[in-house]
Amino acid sequence: MTTTASCNVGPPGAQDLRTPTVTLAIIFRIRVLGVNPNFAAIMLRIAAALRHRSGHEAQQGRQVAEAARGAARRALGGDAEHATRIQAYHNPVPRGRTAGDLFDVTGDDGSLNIFKNFIRNRWVLGGPTTPIAHARREVAAYRVSVLLGFEGLVPHTALAELKHLGAGSVQRFVPGKQGPRPTVHSYPDSQTQEAAVLDYVLASLDRTAGRDANYLIDLNGNLALIDNELSLPTAIRDISRLKSEFVHMHVNQRLNDDVLAKVQALHPEQLRGALHDLEIEPRAINGALDRLQEIQTNERITGAAWRPGEIIPY
Ligand SMILES: Nc1ncnc2c1ncn2[C@@H]1O[C@H](COP(=O)(O)OP(=O)(O)OP(=O)(O)O)[C@@H](O)[C@H]1O
Ligand SMILES: [Mg+2]
Repeated sequence: MTTTASCNVGPPGAQDLRTPTVTLAIIFRIRVLGVNPNFAAIMLRIAAALRHRSGHEAQQGRQVAEAARGAARRALGGDAEHATRIQAYHNPVPRGRTAGDLFDVTGDDGSLNIFKNFIRNRWVLGGPTTPIAHARREVAAYRVSVLLGFEGLVPHTALAELKHLGAGSVQRFVPGKQGPRPTVHSYPDSQTQEAAVLDYVLASLDRTAGRDANYLIDLNGNLALIDNELSLPTAIRDISRLKSEFVHMHVNQRLNDDVLAKVQALHPEQLRGALHDLEIEPRAINGALDRLQEIQTNERITGAAWRPGEIIPY
């Protein structure tokens, strides 16, 4: 069970205000009402101790937050490395009907990747409004999946700037099984629970199903979540739609112990650090933190932190 740094740290003003107020109240009693000087001395010492403790707690909170952010950065060091490896890509092959902003690219290391530069406009309420903001959300999904310990759930994704193709995101290609598109029932329950947690924390707005499903099944039958650009909205309105069959099927269901342990192990400040590092907007970050803490507190997704938005399956 983790304690949250935000509990230790803030709200910043509250602790700072409390002790001077106590001190002033004591001085007022001594000066105006007249109090036994010994009693007054004891009370002033208590006020001083309180002031010292609140300063110490705030400092401890800042240290916890900084350590968490450092751990997040170290865990994600592989991002930049991956982007560098495919810098010298070859064979950009435009992909299907999305030709123009989505390419298969082969890295120097022989790896096959999907590169997206987001020149096609996809608008959604509160969603990203610039190509790079879309790219950052693709990477955010990968980072958050790593921080949650959901190994392999989102293929390795990094920011990249490719010659002729511009800035965007590169994601490892997931070789899939031939045959019909998978449904949410094609996967082990623990994987659909992890997908539900990730989709909820990110507030995925486009986890479509069917022919254009934004999830795949790999050669080992494991779930992979792709196309994560429409997520982390900066606003939640009553017309906001979190679209994910994974969330829809697990809402108000207690998560299993393994998944729960992973969720509880994520310090909210680690999440904040990873998203802040990607320049995700503060309002989008706060929304993600609220949803994570909702799950940690209730041991399930309740949907409370997504209100007044709605959760729809597809
Ligand atoms: N990492 C990946 N591994 C394997 N295939 C992928 C991967 N990423 C994307 N694809 C394939 O490319 C298709 C289009 O990718 P993606 O969904 O990310 O792009 P999009 O332009 O947002 O498409 P749409 O608007 O149809 O959702 C996917 O449906 C999938 O078939
Ligand atoms: Mg898609």
